[in-house]
Amino acid sequence: MSKRLNVGVIGFGYWGPNLVRNFRSLPECRLKMVCDMSEERLAHLHSLYPDVECEKSFERMLNDPEIGAIVVATGLKYHFQMAKASLLAGKHTLIEKPMATSVAECEELIHIAQEKGLVLMVGHTFLYSAAVRKIKEIVDHHDIGDIRYISARRLNLGLFHKDINVTWDLAPHDLSIILYILQEHPLNVNCRGAAHITPDIEDVTSMNLRFGNEKSAIIHSSWLDPRKVREMTIVGSKRMIVYDDVAFQEKIKIFDVRVESPPHYDSFVEFHYAYHYGDMYSPHIKVDEPLRTECQHFLECIKDGSVPLTSGQNGLEVVQILEMASKSVKQGGALVEIPARRAKTGMRTPAAVGAPVLPANGASKDPGRPIRPSPGGVNRRQPNRLVGVDVERD
Ligand SMILES: NC(=O)c1ccc[n+]([C@@H]2O[C@H](COP(=O)([O-])OP(=O)(O)OC[C@H]3O[C@@H](n4cnc5c(N)ncnc54)[C@H](O)[C@@H]3O)[C@@H](O)[C@H]2O)c1
Repeated sequence: MSKRLNVGVIGFGYWGPNLVRNFRSLPECRLKMVCDMSEERLAHLHSLYPDVECEKSFERMLNDPEIGAIVVATGLKYHFQMAKASLLAGKHTLIEKPMATSVAECEELIHIAQEKGLVLMVGHTFLYSAAVRKIKEIVDHHDIGDIRYISARRLNLGLFHKDINVTWDLAPHDLSIILYILQEHPLNVNCRGAAHITPDIEDVTSMNLRFGNEKSAIIHSSWLDPRKVREMTIVGSKRMIVYDDVAFQEKIKIFDVRVESPPHYDSFVEFHYAYHYGDMYSPHIKVDEPLRTECQHFLECIKDGSVPLTSGQNGLEVVQILEMASKSVKQGGALVEIPARRAKTGMRTPAAVGAPVLPANGASKDPGRPIRPSPGGVNRRQPNRLVGVDVERD
């Protein structure tokens, strides 16, 4: 029987407990140690999981020869130094999003992981959600036609960070989903923001990305909104998808609507837009915890030596856009070109963002046929939606 992999988690704040719970529940590994500099957090950990080693010193985790993989769930400013130390200590490493504070840091981590033959993965959790995977199936089957634009809104009240702006906090999720759906790297970005609460830390931003073939994406991120909104609209030439991650049911709705302009017309009188109004269909989405799928995928990649769906290269792509968006914010929303990335790191080229293997236990592998209702799906036109006030983070 093969030996179980020992895992260590550093950071037991808001998000770390979710990683700890999931790794602890997976039979393929043993959660050996959790590190946090806060004694209070460690005491809480001990009360929940007395069998897990509590440690204040990250050095001890790094020097523990039994630990084969480390998960970094501290704040962004520690991601690079901790992930680097972890890789240099020979541990497979999963870093929370965003991967690091700059492209240069991401490149260094990717390089070390390659040199040492270690798995480097980034916690772009939404790519492991059944809803996002279903959207990808639908888009890949060309059921909504050619994508025209994607708009995303990720809003709530707080939690205000002191060292990163709202784009770095919330937009990594939207960016990772958009890159995954489009499989394309943006050409340029412009981003505007305003800092209402903490000086120089934008709490509201609006980012525009331009892709090839006139495709675009708009991302609105805010810590200053009364409602918790996690919404994405994907507008295709044939149909449109609305993805509401806060919705308890019917997270994805496919609207059979489109507008076409006449191919030719001789006079203004003959010019009429053709509006098509069809049904709305909501496919059944399996309820599972995306983070569990993500944790499982990390372990599978270590076992098989495969490249994660959310690899270091994917993390870098997201950080590159965040870096360019920050540059644009500082220039009052100026258009900033995003340099095409060549395989400098020896890994995949930008066109291959999000391309590799998926875990077997996530969304169904059946092709999505959105307009035909399945037994678990719903088909109607105007669903009601209740939105509650919520101050949670991601
Ligand atoms: N994937 C997701 O959906 C998702 C959701 C939320 C947060 N995150 C990410 O998770 C990471 C952690 O976020 P959070 O909200 O839990 O932050 P947090 O501040 O609540 O928790 C960080 C924890 O790390 C500990 N810590 C910080 N520096 C340390 C050090 N040098 N040594 C030991 N312990 C240290 C702190 O004591 C704290 O308990 C961030 O990168 C964030 O972006 C991801």
